[in-house]
Amino acid sequence: MAKKLTDSGTSDRRIADADEDSNVTDGGFSSPPCFMHEVDPAWLGRWPVAEVIDLLNVLLEAERAGAKVTRAMAGDATSPEAREALTDIAGDEARFCAMLSRHVERLGGTPSPKTGAFREKVMALEDEAARLALLDKGQAWVVRKIAEALPHLSDDALHADLVDMLDVHERNLVRSGALRPGG
Ligand SMILES: [Fe+2]
Repeated sequence: MAKKLTDSGTSDRRIADADEDSNVTDGGFSSPPCFMHEVDPAWLGRWPVAEVIDLLNVLLEAERAGAKVTRAMAGDATSPEAREALTDIAGDEARFCAMLSRHVERLGGTPSPKTGAFREKVMALEDEAARLALLDKGQAWVVRKIAEALPHLSDDALHADLVDMLDVHERNLVRSGALRPGG
């Protein structure tokens, strides 16, 4: 993990900084928030609970938008295949909303009641193929967000649920991709 810190060409900039900072040996930093801001989360390994809650709420808002969008798209679907796939995906999105809310509460946070702006963006499009393309973009964003977070989570139950969410999103991306022209 410390390898990331050597990009500047110094032997180990972060440790050198800490060694040079007399506040470190005095039992604290003169300005902890400033110092902490510079610390690469990868170096810390585990994300603080507040940061995990923020991430879960961002995902929750995205999933709520995804559930509403896919439900609406299922209603407008031009083929039974699209209707069935979008209904299934809407069910998955709703299931993840419940899962994320549960973890936010378990970690001492408040589940966000908001719906991501993604919903408006997709529904503003009239063409089914364009909606599907944007839906897939949103789902791919969720996959990236989860993949980025997983190495920083030490909570086994949350980790397992997010791995499941990532797997399902990857499968749904293949499924919705097949609904697009040429897919
Ligand atoms: Fe989603």
